Amino acid sequence: MSRADKVKAVVTPDVPQNAAIFAQDLNFVYNAKSNFAKQALSHIDLTVNKGEFVAIVGHTGSGKTTFVQHLNALIRVQSGYLNVLGADLSARKPDLKALRRQVGMVFQYPEYQLFADTVLEDVCFGLKNFGVDKDQREQMAQDALQLVGLDFDQIKSKSPFDLSGGEKRRVALAGVLAMKPQILVMDEPTAGLDPQGKAEVLSLVRSLNQQQGVTVLMVSHDMNEVYENADRVVVFRNGEVAFDMPPRQLFRNEAEIEAMNLEVPAMAAFCNELERHGVVLPDSCRTVDEVFAAVKALREVPNA
Ligand SMILES: Nc1ncnc2c1ncn2[C@@H]1O[C@H](COP(=O)(O)OP(=O)(O)O)[C@@H](O)[C@H]1O
Ligand SMILES: [Mg+2]
Repeated sequence: MSRADKVKAVVTPDVPQNAAIFAQDLNFVYNAKSNFAKQALSHIDLTVNKGEFVAIVGHTGSGKTTFVQHLNALIRVQSGYLNVLGADLSARKPDLKALRRQVGMVFQYPEYQLFADTVLEDVCFGLKNFGVDKDQREQMAQDALQLVGLDFDQIKSKSPFDLSGGEKRRVALAGVLAMKPQILVMDEPTAGLDPQGKAEVLSLVRSLNQQQGVTVLMVSHDMNEVYENADRVVVFRNGEVAFDMPPRQLFRNEAEIEAMNLEVPAMAAFCNELERHGVVLPDSCRTVDEVFAAVKALREVPNA
């Protein structure tokens, strides 16, 4: 073992076997060497396990985007340790090509990045870059467009700029999904969509997670969607992780949530109130239907 290897062996943490994303003491400062230096991330410790659906929430400027942009090395690690699907992104020269195919990144307002003359070309762009041949990439594009609920034959030759807002968002998502990523990282994927568009995107993401085992990390400012969909919620505050726990537990802390200018989801507030009156429901029930079923079941059981 060389001296350099020995030093590295000492500082490289053990990555849990089931971790898709593992950050330890990750820090990031914008404009580090200037008078405008801004510490955007401080001592972030965060693990996302394979197959999990994790949400990141937090006030504007809390560091959410800065964190997720590290995950496909759009922002390079300055200090601390970051491992994504086995790739050490704190290394001097990580293998970014393999990583970028496995980590699907959906930026905020991804439709702004549509650029090709036709929808088909746009969805195929990433695959072409990765050297997938024409027939195969058209098939993969077709599958991806179908997945996001668009009619391939109707839409493939249209200009992305002639589509509605919701359709553009879905085409942009299809471009990411066409690569069949193992991790889907999304920065506010439902921002600016109407309620139906939001519901469609969420149901797609949930089914990718539950049916295909895709690991999901989603930044969101909509506490209701986070509450109903995420297995775990990570709250960023001033570049730090303030909370990291399942949604039902998190939103029992009403005072802390409101102090961070975040909203307590309606169903969480309702369940908290029921609990204050002695009605305890399983932590797993969060949607209106689930809570209703649990309350109904309680009423049907005679007092034991
Ligand atoms: N390109 C940049 N240059 C300088 N400061 C930035 C830049 N991007 C973000 N910041 C600052 O870093 C902090 C974290 O920003 P960001 O990660 O975008 O937070 P969020 O996504 O939670 O709103 C904020 O204070 C923001 O002003
Ligand atoms: Mg952001």
